[in-house]
Amino acid sequence: MKRLTVPAIQRRKGQEPLVMLTAYTVRMAQLLDPHCDLLLVGDSLGQVIYGLPSTLAVTLDMMCAHGAAVVRGSYHAVVVIDMPFGTYEPSPEQAFVSAARIMAETGAAAVKMEGGEAMAPTVAFLTARGIPVMGHIGLTPQAVNALGGYGARGRSNAEHAKIIGDARAIADAGAFAIVAEGVIEPLAKAIVAEVSCPVIGIGASADCDGQVLVTEDMLGMFERTARFVKKFDDLAGRISAAVETYAADVRSRTFPGPEQTYQPKD
Ligand code: KIV
Ligand code: NA
Repeated sequence: MKRLTVPAIQRRKGQEPLVMLTAYTVRMAQLLDPHCDLLLVGDSLGQVIYGLPSTLAVTLDMMCAHGAAVVRGSYHAVVVIDMPFGTYEPSPEQAFVSAARIMAETGAAAVKMEGGEAMAPTVAFLTARGIPVMGHIGLTPQAVNALGGYGARGRSNAEHAKIIGDARAIADAGAFAIVAEGVIEPLAKAIVAEVSCPVIGIGASADCDGQVLVTEDMLGMFERTARFVKKFDDLAGRISAAVETYAADVRSRTFPGPEQTYQPKD
């Protein structure tokens, strides 16, 4: 299977919904790749992999190491890598240097950055220099301290208008797709209608041009998740049960059994 391209993703606006999930490791990438159009190496790895309290302390080193693993584990999906907090905001030039390092060290096809109107010049700068950019608007977790939490966005008229303006600015700057996170459904639909690039929803609307979730969330690895997460499995429960059985088998000396032990050849 040939790998999808950024222009192929761009053309999916209004077509069959885009399927996107996060991946941070090679084996998960291998398992997700046949089913996904896009794999996101999200800075959510800060919480999911490293146990950090937010995404703010995630580094370029982390994104490059995990990004390279995900590219090695995938053959079909477009791999997109999150730009960590602090590595792209000060100037388009700094963003380019950070993004170029990510592209060079991982082999990914695109980067994603949070932000609206204020980041539009940076989106245009990178796009014009050969780095495809996915936008991320609405609930932007790197701005948790400014937003005051992870609640849904767009409930007031002013916030609704601001986020529509963000979508338009990022799209006009050349973003090939936009993630819309944690926005009330009417706003999600308005964003989809407003821009000509695909809008990928998370906590948004089934009318978006695609959906993304954190894989560990949708697999049920965590007890507590946001309201917008649907758990498609209970991996935490299944892992606990398997490990409980393993521990009992070790303690009762029923593991290893004959199939798992070597005997002298006669
Ligand atoms: O970091 C991440 O996983 C993300 C997605 C949830 C969109 O940005
Ligand atoms: Na992210």
